[in-house]
Amino acid sequence: MNIQKPKGTNDLFGAQMTKREHILQIITKILNEYNYQKIDTPIFENYKLFDRSIGEQTDVVNKEMYDFLDKGNRHMALRPEGTAGVIRAYLENKLYANPIALQKYYYVGKMFRYERPGNGRMREFNQIGVEQIGPYTYINDVEVLLLAQKILNALNIDVQLKINNLGDTNERKGYIAELVKRLTLVEDRLSNDSKRRLKTNPLRILDSKEDNVEELIEMIDINDYLTIESKQYFEQIKIHLNNLGVNYIVDSKLVRGLDYYTNLVFEFVDKKTNLTILGGGRYNHLIENLGKIQMPSIGFAIGLERLEMLSKIEFEPSSVDYLIGSLDTNADSLMLQIAQTLRNNNFKVEISNATTNIKSKYNLATRINSQKIIFVGAKEVEKQKIIIKNLKTKEEEEIEVSKLNEIK
Ligand code: HAM
Repeated sequence: MNIQKPKGTNDLFGAQMTKREHILQIITKILNEYNYQKIDTPIFENYKLFDRSIGEQTDVVNKEMYDFLDKGNRHMALRPEGTAGVIRAYLENKLYANPIALQKYYYVGKMFRYERPGNGRMREFNQIGVEQIGPYTYINDVEVLLLAQKILNALNIDVQLKINNLGDTNERKGYIAELVKRLTLVEDRLSNDSKRRLKTNPLRILDSKEDNVEELIEMIDINDYLTIESKQYFEQIKIHLNNLGVNYIVDSKLVRGLDYYTNLVFEFVDKKTNLTILGGGRYNHLIENLGKIQMPSIGFAIGLERLEMLSKIEFEPSSVDYLIGSLDTNADSLMLQIAQTLRNNNFKVEISNATTNIKSKYNLATRINSQKIIFVGAKEVEKQKIIIKNLKTKEEEEIEVSKLNEIK
């Protein structure tokens, strides 16, 4: 039996891997400009962490979690997202004791969701995400949006930014109650999924793919339920985005699939495919709920597979500087010595031993995109001189082995 990779997972290698590395390099350079610090947390955590942070009634926890009992009978889960783990680490390691009030972390890693694979959806996928933990001002929200936009621009993706204000947990209670009241009146016209959500997670009915809420009920505006401060906070974000020339639309149906969000939520959606590449928002009570410390936060995550699929950046194919080919087993040692010297001088070097002939060494040089080639045989061993052939210009240069160190 041929064992194949599990459904919804991917093997990454070759040009795809080169693209991933290149994209990550661009993103981490930008994160560095914004002074983010890298953090790494476990791929599996206690099930309760996700249940209590993302919300037990969300699809992510309720339907899509890879959870299991370990050999010690502990209920564990593969992480479906990165925020919960970062916040757990923040609390567990007392990172709040750091005198720097605003803490900015980023992470790169695998996430797991038991979703139906296809159209940019995987069961194992990679995210790069950021979490900004600290004082609650709209300037932080604007900075996070600018960072997200800068990353997507650098990767040449044509996106639309959508934002919404979900208000604080208490503020939106009245709104949710009114929404439930109106939707209950048309309950028999709702899909089974929305009927279930009416009891468990009514806000999510707003972004249902099956039911168009606007056609079913007279819509209510969440703004009518928010406090003046909450409205002003959102207005300030919009004013700054306008001043900075950031294009966005306010989408009152944008609610996002994780329960921890409060106030600003946002998504960057690819204009052509309508796929969400980046999603995030503010979560002012998550830390309090998990660790009894009042610490507002905001963050986002980008799906790397979607990014790679949609990014139109051009990148150089991988290449090597030198291929050293031995033509005689007696020259293998010289081949290794030359490779070592060049690598010590920071050149990228590949070798090819005496088992293949000149023709196949040239073929290899083409395949690995080598800039130069050096052949070593009995003559080179004897004279301790070699010829470096530039495969692009066809120029040849003779050099003593002892002078190889001087090559720049
Ligand atoms: P999310 O919207 O669930 O947010 O995921 C963020 C991004 O991960 C999505 O926009 C998408 O690009 C990618 N993604 C999600 N699910 C899949 C999947 N099944 N297959 C492929 N890509 C996927 C979060 O995860 C939050 N933790 C973001 C955040 C950070 N909010 C605050 N801080």
